[in-house]
Amino acid sequence: MAQVIIALDVPTLDEALGLVDSLGDGADFYKVGLELFTLEGPSVVRTLKRRHKHVFLDLKLHDIPNTVARAVSRARELDVDLLTLHTTGGRSMMEAAAKAAGDRLTLLGVTVLTSMTHSDVENSWGRGIDSIEEEVVRLAQLAQKSGLGGVVASVSEAACIKEAVGSALVVVTPGIRLTGDDPHDQARVSTPAEAVAAGADYLVIGRSVTQASDPADALRRIFEEMPGASAVGTA
Ligand code: C5P
Repeated sequence: MAQVIIALDVPTLDEALGLVDSLGDGADFYKVGLELFTLEGPSVVRTLKRRHKHVFLDLKLHDIPNTVARAVSRARELDVDLLTLHTTGGRSMMEAAAKAAGDRLTLLGVTVLTSMTHSDVENSWGRGIDSIEEEVVRLAQLAQKSGLGGVVASVSEAACIKEAVGSALVVVTPGIRLTGDDPHDQARVSTPAEAVAAGADYLVIGRSVTQASDPADALRRIFEEMPGASAVGTA
């Protein structure tokens, strides 16, 4: 059953906790990204954990295997539930990370950033590609072989990934908007129902909830658009 993760895309712990308070029991899974973690550090994670919330730490790690494995170990000590790293860091990096993660921390691979165009990918890879989707599926397969627990992908890629690698690999999808909502800077957005239909396991929701005049009401509407949804996370 798909679960909702709220992206705490704010700079300070105070602002983050204001949002957590306004959502109350409606949300129990939060994403801490680069901005908030850079300013507030692990105290954000510790505070959320003290409030019995699940934490997705979105740091998109990419470094030599030893450095990434050590960072993963520290995230594990913080009792983080989901953590991202770049699949383009290579198999040995992912394997070292998977070994450090243990059983309770699920590692998510970032395949191709959704901000990258076809020619961006070709320039970075140094070769022609048939499609971004094919590259995403290839990297998702590599992530699975390397021991990662899941991947981050757009809703349009989720079904192909599930078809190629099976349901064991968790798929987390951002870029979700309620029907009629502002897409902001997302090139492609999908509704909660579309994400669930594509097989997403977790839906990351940011501005549709965090910038709503009534965040709790916006979250309620998200759940209404998710057949069989659960507000309660169990990573
Ligand atoms: O506000 P919005 O719902 O667009 O926020 C989506 C969240 O998911 C943001 O924290 C954004 O950084 C993240 N994200 C994304 N697209 C990706 C990976 C992460 O939008 N491909």
